Amino acid sequence: MEKKTFYITTPIYYPSGKPHIGHSYTTVASDAIARYKRMQGYDVMFLTGTDEHGLKIEQKAEEAGITPKEYVDKASQVFRDLWKLLNISNDRFIRTTDDYHVRGIQKIFRTLYEKGEIYKGKYEGWYCTPCESFWTETQLKDGKCPDCGREVKWTEEEAYFFRLSKYADRLLKLYEDHPEFIQPESRKNEMIAFIKQGLQDLCVSRTSFTWGVPVDFDPKHVVYVWIDALPNYITALGYGSDDESDFHKYWPADVHFVGKEIVRFHTIIWPAILMALGLPLPKQVYGHGWLLFGDGSKMSKSKGNVVDPYILCERYGVDAIRYFLLREIPFGSDGLFTNEALIQRINSDLANDLGNLLSRTTAMVQKYFGGHIPQEQEAGPEDAPLEEMGRALRQKCDEAIDKYQFSRTLEELWKFIARTNKYIDETMPWALGKDETKQARLASVMDHLCEALRLVSILLTPFMPETAPKIQAQLGLSPEDCTYARAEYGKFPAGCTVTKGETLFPRIDVEKEIAALNELIPTPDAETAQQEKVREELAGVAQIGIDDFAKVELRAAKIVNCEKIKRAKKLLKLTLDDGTGEARTVCSGIAPWYKPEDLIGKTVVVVANLAPAKLCGIESQGMILAADAGENDVKVVFLDGVPAGSKIR
Ligand code: ME8
Ligand code: MG
Repeated sequence: MEKKTFYITTPIYYPSGKPHIGHSYTTVASDAIARYKRMQGYDVMFLTGTDEHGLKIEQKAEEAGITPKEYVDKASQVFRDLWKLLNISNDRFIRTTDDYHVRGIQKIFRTLYEKGEIYKGKYEGWYCTPCESFWTETQLKDGKCPDCGREVKWTEEEAYFFRLSKYADRLLKLYEDHPEFIQPESRKNEMIAFIKQGLQDLCVSRTSFTWGVPVDFDPKHVVYVWIDALPNYITALGYGSDDESDFHKYWPADVHFVGKEIVRFHTIIWPAILMALGLPLPKQVYGHGWLLFGDGSKMSKSKGNVVDPYILCERYGVDAIRYFLLREIPFGSDGLFTNEALIQRINSDLANDLGNLLSRTTAMVQKYFGGHIPQEQEAGPEDAPLEEMGRALRQKCDEAIDKYQFSRTLEELWKFIARTNKYIDETMPWALGKDETKQARLASVMDHLCEALRLVSILLTPFMPETAPKIQAQLGLSPEDCTYARAEYGKFPAGCTVTKGETLFPRIDVEKEIAALNELIPTPDAETAQQEKVREELAGVAQIGIDDFAKVELRAAKIVNCEKIKRAKKLLKLTLDDGTGEARTVCSGIAPWYKPEDLIGKTVVVVANLAPAKLCGIESQGMILAADAGENDVKVVFLDGVPAGSKIR
């Protein structure tokens, strides 16, 4: 009988910067699933790759003084190298610059055009260069890019469009008929809301840059990013080539793992393209959460607050990082990546719980029995609870894995590890060892401990592919003893030579290590986070000319009277001497921070030509300047030694 297939993908990453721990997160998670499914006997296809076209790459290459192709050749290799370091078992690695992909995209584009699913039109809109996104007027936020907050530019160009709008109803029906299509559940509602807001046809070509797949029947156009990127999942299987056998074998994908920010592309545009091509849809898109860093902001290349996976792997080993990524944060949720949490996990879960269990067990088998557990064994009352839990373990892991609950899977394994450690406390082998008549019981206890470790090592393999074989080697197991079929609690195989080997995970001195780490990987402190916020805000503000500024008439004014306003808790009513000899009344929302008596006699800055406004029934003739001086604090700008009426410019 043919094996059942399982097809899993990661996003294809932009190689415009170095891969960071966020990219590693998706890739490690996909790898754990691919390995688990292979272990279960599936014929697995696991795909990852790099998304190499577009304006950003073109610009990066120009900055570096090399061709885009030279740039992506190098950059893509960096991703491959990291996946090798992280023990990623991908079956294929696709680059969107690969010939077969380029031809596949051209064919898909042409087919869609011939079917009338793509048509030629004119694109007008607000364009954000860094995001490579067009926005309509209403999508802009304060006139800026709604995604990144930066300046947008009005742009018009001839372009091809994909009839995305006509798929709204079919997409909504897809979500309804297949509730499992978008996971986790919560993201589905976002997508439904997005579609109900009205889908627009999608611009799928560009004439403004050349680094892309040329439209073969209209070569001044290149295919635009998402239509180039999304079909990688099928071109990698040979779709559109002379040999589509892998496509027929593995498609539709069982799951696309993606970060939550690109769920929209994968659950709206991608199924619509497939519908237009008349192809089956992927079974599921899983949008996992973000790794957040330090101050809670999203880790990203552009922000520079990147945790370097190379440094982490070098210091703690690949498996510790893989374990942490999958254990610490439930897959669907956002979670904080901190150095403290990482070391804490290594010490408690890996060094203590697992590492100690192995080293105690192997040391005792050596000490008491020279590494060979006698087969003359005597059962005891402590055995049943351990055996029972062991017998249920594989199914518990399978169930959690089927829902991509990595954290829960590892939790189940660690509950069993904790139970096994407890079994040592209960059976007290050191006491048995002193008693000649208890040798058979001691042998049975050792057998149970080794068997528990054997079981754990099998189920742990997909997550910690380096550590599991180390455990098995110390237990003297052969590969046949360690198959998924044998991941059942039974009896430890007779005849194994148990040896105490190297420590799996040395304990880390937390304080010293944190200090060393923080030096290597500076966590942005409150100060740099604040600086970053200011930089971002300033970058997003439109420039004005000196004429614009000159329109604002700023004058010094002395506060001659000040009182609270009964009906408005936040307002103070100020009477100002603005140098004209006539009193000017200004209402200001500073009551939470100033008492009237603190203000009388002080000189402030007033915007003298602001149109009057009624506030709580009082006419306010201008406003005074004040600063946001931190979280919920406001400070009025006071002048010292400046006569009332002086011009400020
Ligand atoms: O979006 N936390 O590429 P990209 C968790 N080329 N995951 C993260 C992360 C973080 N802080 N940062 C990145 C693209 N990721 C497109 C995809 S697919 C047809 C085209 C992971 O280089 C996560 O999987 O920006 C996210 O979706 C992906 O990297 C974005 O990679
Ligand atoms: Mg991105």
